[in-house]
Amino acid sequence: MIWDNLPKDFTALAPMEGVTDSVFRAVINKAGRPDLFFTEFTNVSSFASEKGRHDALERLTITETDSPIIAQIWGKNPEHFALLASKLESFGFSGLDLNMGCPDKHVNKAGGGAAMIKTPDLASECIKQARENTNLPVSVKTRLGFTYIEECKEWLPFLLNHHLPALTVHLRTRKEMSKVDAHYELIPEIIKLRNKISPETKLIINGDIKDIKHVRKLSKEYPEVDGFMIGRGVFNNPFCFTDKNPTLTELLDLFYYHLDLYDARAKEIHYPFEPLKHFYKVYINSFDGASDLRVKLMECKTTLELRKVLDDFKNSADFKSTL
Ligand SMILES: Cc1cc2nc3c(=O)[nH]c(=O)nc-3n(C[C@H](O)[C@H](O)[C@H](O)COP(=O)(O)O)c2cc1C
Repeated sequence: MIWDNLPKDFTALAPMEGVTDSVFRAVINKAGRPDLFFTEFTNVSSFASEKGRHDALERLTITETDSPIIAQIWGKNPEHFALLASKLESFGFSGLDLNMGCPDKHVNKAGGGAAMIKTPDLASECIKQARENTNLPVSVKTRLGFTYIEECKEWLPFLLNHHLPALTVHLRTRKEMSKVDAHYELIPEIIKLRNKISPETKLIINGDIKDIKHVRKLSKEYPEVDGFMIGRGVFNNPFCFTDKNPTLTELLDLFYYHLDLYDARAKEIHYPFEPLKHFYKVYINSFDGASDLRVKLMECKTTLELRKVLDDFKNSADFKSTL
């Protein structure tokens, strides 16, 4: 079982919609991988419908460098959880994770993500249906509560009473979105709950963790936490799972690698160009002139044009002055 095979203080790349697809996971794998990957979330009802299945399957595409990887799924229809859960082992996943924390308005309106915090019986039924239809371990990722931090005193024990193999807690409420600091001060209380109710559950904390050095600091402070999940930290430094302080040349090399992978994937599936733009800042951010270069990149419409802008930059005096 994957959750028993991870090292102490394991690291995980957070599931991030529109970010942690198979291409970006391969980029992070090359930069320096975490112990565990998660997919971006897949809607169970899309998978259950003829119209949505193709998109769902694309989200669930994994490659050999992803392993071990957990499929994250969301929705509100227990039967659809059952259906998708029954397939994930054959797709090569090591586990499945139910999203009970997403704050997105549309997701919550559809009864999924953090809205599950308000419908515990339904959350329980979704966990049950997923479990009964797979041999894979079924974990949950959630927030402290929907509106108030105090909700965690009921919600987390409720989840722990399901004796999940792993529970990821994003240390904020749904209402707080990502606008306040993660509530590290609550970690001791959450550890106590876990130890009392379900000592076998691996506890993963998430929120504002920057990099591996930060993981080491937190693991010293909270040695009973099992795992540490990093999300937006990869935007600041895609090498954040390593001790590397990347040079601009290394960041550019990784950018070219990302473009190569993008091109290869775009030959296989319809892979839109626009979302690539979210990544420019990952590679081009830490030197004088970075924002001017990003403006030029934003104007490009193809990876060929992007490569040309990058090649010109590498031949420029601006680049040489950064060496
Ligand atoms: C662009 C983006 C997409 C996200 N998509 C998901 C998702 O699909 N599933 C999920 O559980 N959380 C998702 N999250 C939340 C992250 O997994 C994580 O909980 C959050 O960013 C806090 O961690 P961080 O401070 O390390 O970024 C997303 C966050 C971002 C920024």
